[in-house]
Amino acid sequence: MKVFLTGHLGYVGTVLLEKLLAENFEVVGCDIGYYPQSFEDTEIVPQNFLKKDIRDITKEDLYGCNAICHLAGLSNDPIGEINPKLTNEINYLSTIRLAKLSKEIGIERFIFSSSCSAYGLNEDIVTEQSQLAPQTAYAKSKVNSEQELVKLRDINFAPVMLRNATVYGISPNLRLDLVVNNLIGSALSTGKIKLNSDGTAWRPLLHVEDMADAFVRCLKASKNEVNGKFFNVGSNQGNHKVIEIAEKIAQKIPNSEIEIANKDNKDNRSYKVNFDKIYEELGFKTKWNLDDGIKQIYDAMKDKCLSLEYFSDKSFHRLKYLKWLLEKGTINQDLRFKN
Ligand SMILES: NC(=O)c1ccc[n+]([C@@H]2O[C@H](COP(=O)([O-])OP(=O)(O)OC[C@H]3O[C@@H](n4cnc5c(N)ncnc54)[C@H](O)[C@@H]3O)[C@@H](O)[C@H]2O)c1
Repeated sequence: MKVFLTGHLGYVGTVLLEKLLAENFEVVGCDIGYYPQSFEDTEIVPQNFLKKDIRDITKEDLYGCNAICHLAGLSNDPIGEINPKLTNEINYLSTIRLAKLSKEIGIERFIFSSSCSAYGLNEDIVTEQSQLAPQTAYAKSKVNSEQELVKLRDINFAPVMLRNATVYGISPNLRLDLVVNNLIGSALSTGKIKLNSDGTAWRPLLHVEDMADAFVRCLKASKNEVNGKFFNVGSNQGNHKVIEIAEKIAQKIPNSEIEIANKDNKDNRSYKVNFDKIYEELGFKTKWNLDDGIKQIYDAMKDKCLSLEYFSDKSFHRLKYLKWLLEKGTINQDLRFKN
């Protein structure tokens, strides 16, 4: 099977690419290449690679592929801050355009990297049927994409919506702007596990390897198992309060202590998610838990991330990196590369 993988140079994409190649999928990678590979020197390369903006993909780019794994996009809430219209354009409009092109040329499966942030602020434990409450431009772009993608479903074209939990763990292109990775980086470089909110918000967590495995599982599934379906990706045991995450990190990292920067600041994103459906319908079970993930990150970073300079480097922080590219004039205001 030939897979068109967008975002193959990113935090999750690099891990998924490696798994796809190990499973003998043929892969065409497509990525604009905003962020340098930040953590590992060795680079895994797909059989074909398009350095291209997803806004410009043509049918010719897609010919011969059987499935799309769509991960490219502006990948977190704060990036919506640069320009919410761009988040809409890149994450939503381009997703639908790509799906329509794929359908027109007979690609059979479109696996979309959505997010549990679609649930936004919710007191109850949410399932795939729960009311959505996206709080940010990023989360709205995911919800809008899902709603349009599912309409494209027919017997020949199977969109699959994966609502991934917040990811942690080591990847060749590491991000330190995600909660678990961030708090570990903060602990190692400053001795403080610094929370920017009161820590009471709930977050479902997912190891990067498990997220990649969910995509592989959906590629291998029969059409009926996945066509037009929404799946929360994670595990019921992976729901944690931010303060709990911090406590686990404090136990693991010597001489670290929790610092709550602003006790009055409540995070407006808090959700606890039920993950039964993906287990019951696809037999998908995560392999990692938070304790093992913290150990993995700690072991990989403890000799590298000892300075604040290293931890704060823009290569690990998506919003910071894009702002730097803008300031340097490498990309235009529309986030396209110059030339
Ligand atoms: N990391 C998480 O916690 C998480 C959770 C839920 C969902 N997701 C989703 O999974 C996907 C991957 O996340 P990630 O953490 O690997 O993000 P990432 O930022 O590390 O990777 C995204 C990749 O997309 C590329 N990209 C961005 N805009 C592009 C464009 N216009 N054209 C072509 N390429 C472009 C970037 O260069 C980057 O390599 C994203 O869609 C994200 O929203 C991530």
